[in-house]
Amino acid sequence: MSATGEAKALTPPDICARKGRTPLVCLTAYTTPIAKLVDPHSDVVLVGDSVSMVLHGLPSTLGVTLEMMIMHGQAVRRGLKRALMIVDMPFGSYEEGPEQAFRNAVRVMAKTGCAAVKLEGGEAMAETIRFLAARGIPVMAHVGLTPQAVNAFGGYRVQGRGEDAERIRRDARAVADAGAFAVVLEKVPEPLARRVTEEITIPTIGIGASPACDGQILVVDDMLGLFGDFRPKFVKRYAELGQAASAAIAAYAQEVRERRFPAAEHVFGDAPTAIKGGEAA
Ligand code: KIV
Repeated sequence: MSATGEAKALTPPDICARKGRTPLVCLTAYTTPIAKLVDPHSDVVLVGDSVSMVLHGLPSTLGVTLEMMIMHGQAVRRGLKRALMIVDMPFGSYEEGPEQAFRNAVRVMAKTGCAAVKLEGGEAMAETIRFLAARGIPVMAHVGLTPQAVNAFGGYRVQGRGEDAERIRRDARAVADAGAFAVVLEKVPEPLARRVTEEITIPTIGIGASPACDGQILVVDDMLGLFGDFRPKFVKRYAELGQAASAAIAAYAQEVRERRFPAAEHVFGDAPTAIKGGEAA
């Protein structure tokens, strides 16, 4: 609690200190109403670049811009009180080098009020993570399946099978050594995620990884059944809100066509006269 009795927002050091303790609850949000819903239950709220597919209907995360991330970050900020807010750095906004990453991360933090950024990549991004961390920018890293590299991977495949496990272990160690305060492990074999979690000193946040990770993250629209028929193995659907919304919209459409909506209680004035014969009085 703060001096004013407000719930104190979690910080990157708070999240880092949860290594090996009660699992961290992490969810995405892109809008104020969803941020308000997830905040009381979450430790971390990520404004993920998945927004490009989930809300904007783009085919991958590659089309999202810094301006889009800032706009969604500002919306989410208005809905949060307790959770740590992290904003994804979009494709092309950090890979040129540490200076570009610093410039754009500063912009995202200043415009959205987020306390940390997330970027994708392991060993190749270690220098950039070190540069940002040394200049006051907390970084959550992301290794394993990094969706911004979908073209290089040739699809959204599990990463780190067989001998490739060594690459993922090196990536995780490199980002931890560089000063990341946590790392997302996406779509890697369960025993590998478990092993990486044991090997590194920062919390691992799993998605399609392992219950042994220090936390879990899901795209909130996926777990609520709001993102169409997208049903990857790693998503558990906790609700079917898409089906519920579709049924509600169908009911509305039928009632409008049959002049059963609006009913007397939804109109102003002398309601019984107003809806007589379906004509407004
Ligand atoms: O963009 C996103 O939503 C993410 C999470 C799935 C980790 O990166």
